[in-house]
Amino acid sequence: MEVIIRPNADAGCVLGAKVIAKLVREKPDAVLGLATGRTPLRLYQELIRMHRDEGLDFRHVTTFNLDEYVGLPATHDQSYRYFMRENLFNHINIDQSRTHVPDGTAPDLHAECRAYEKRIVAAGGIDLQLLGLGRNGHIGFNEPSGSLYSRTWIKILSEQTLRDNSDVFGSLAAMPRHAITMGIGTILEARRCLLLAFGPAKTRAVERMIEGPLAAICPASALQLHPRATVIVDESSASGLQYADHYRWIDANKLAWQRYD
Ligand code: F6R
Repeated sequence: MEVIIRPNADAGCVLGAKVIAKLVREKPDAVLGLATGRTPLRLYQELIRMHRDEGLDFRHVTTFNLDEYVGLPATHDQSYRYFMRENLFNHINIDQSRTHVPDGTAPDLHAECRAYEKRIVAAGGIDLQLLGLGRNGHIGFNEPSGSLYSRTWIKILSEQTLRDNSDVFGSLAAMPRHAITMGIGTILEARRCLLLAFGPAKTRAVERMIEGPLAAICPASALQLHPRATVIVDESSASGLQYADHYRWIDANKLAWQRYD
């Protein structure tokens, strides 16, 4: 796992955007796996800026989002389809027909899960999967104790996740309790993973993901198995890492081609 520590979330997101921009410049028809939530917002703003000021071209890019709440239509302002339109798709030159978010209102949710997997395969697989990190160690909506081989499926959200995400729904009761999410097995098949985690609320999860044992109780620890996983953290989320100096040493001694900035 490549661990990069930046002073703050802003610097981490700008670096994350550079990783994605480099890929899109090298491979204009790249397939990106995307995430929602608070963490990638600044990264998306930076991609929008790069599109506007530097001509970063998304015309041939295809995207697959990690997850969607069950029962929320694309028009619902808390649906992840809505989030992606508002925070990225409407501000870049992406062909919206190339953007994929699981349909949480599909009449047959199991069929939708299977079809989502097939769509990813038909697109040639995901070149880079962007991820955030739940306080309980989830990635996508793969909650603790789920299978590390799981595929896209319907998951029950944990109480912690409900509490963490309910503010935007107004109340806990108004929040969906189920989501369609890519599985851990699906995520691990991406050719590259890029996870961002910032702030003191993520310190413990970051520590467990990077330095803890590989364990289903911390789903993000599965990234230890991935041949090309990059984790960008800030000083506060990295504050529990025992080997922080080692990660800084590696970062400081990278060859020019191994750097993103
Ligand atoms: C979002 C997702 C989740 C979030 C995680 C962190 O698509 O899959 O795993 O990345 O819950 O959320 P934030 O960024 O809001 O702290």
